[in-house]
Amino acid sequence: MILALKDICKSYDQNLVLGKVSFNVQKHEIVCLVGPSGCGKSTTLNIIAGLIKADQGEIKNNSTRMSYIFQEDRLLPWKTVYENIKLVATHKSKKEIYKMIYAVGLSDFEDNYPDELSGGMRQRVAIARAFIYEADLLLMDEPFKSLDHSLKISMLENLIQLWEHSAISIIFVTHDLEEALLTGDKIIVFSQKPARVAKIFKIEIPQNQRELSQPKLVEIKNEVMELITW
Ligand SMILES: Nc1ncnc2c1ncn2[C@@H]1O[C@H](COP(=O)(O)OP(=O)(O)OP(=O)(O)O)[C@@H](O)[C@H]1O
Ligand SMILES: [Mg+2]
Repeated sequence: MILALKDICKSYDQNLVLGKVSFNVQKHEIVCLVGPSGCGKSTTLNIIAGLIKADQGEIKNNSTRMSYIFQEDRLLPWKTVYENIKLVATHKSKKEIYKMIYAVGLSDFEDNYPDELSGGMRQRVAIARAFIYEADLLLMDEPFKSLDHSLKISMLENLIQLWEHSAISIIFVTHDLEEALLTGDKIIVFSQKPARVAKIFKIEIPQNQRELSQPKLVEIKNEVMELITW
């Protein structure tokens, strides 16, 4: 197990956001967190990342290197694609960095600056950066939210491929059930605020064999939709 949250509570002033949230993440698992807007998903990631403190509860974090992909890409605008990636991978050779740039489909753009790239391309750089850093736990907070559908699907394929060839565990917060159904080994549904885990769905179908029309995925989708009023 790489991470265990037990009875995590968090309030902002009088606003009780997390009311005893508990879940585990196993090694090399993709865990998707879904739930109504404002229920505390980003707060949960921020607690895991150590950016904010829980008021109560226990976290057992066995990861040694965490990486966090935010909704916005957080690249350095004055550095090129290559330099942005090199920044977190100072010990990596040029060849290894080029290989990663190739893996996210950005060969030919290594010398471009972030503002010369589309939103999807910038997110690819953020993903390349997270993977070359060799984190063992990757936190992602709706990184594909601003992308159009076909780009999103290609980003998900990219992500799955990189994940398959690594030992990384991923916690993926998303509003988008399609993303959760295509990537998650587990889908954890949060209740309305104060959030608790309403239900955990396990998906046994290997990610590279999933299609949204598969009966199991349709069944989970319908159940999640019933649980959440977005
Ligand atoms: N720094 C903060 N100070 C005060 N209240 C906050 C702070 N951050 C979040 N909140 C409140 O905590 C609640 C949960 O916020 P959070 O961003 O974790 O929700 P979320 O599930 O990620 O929502 P969304 O799906 O819209 O991104 C909201 O009511 C929000 O207003
Ligand atoms: Mg959020």
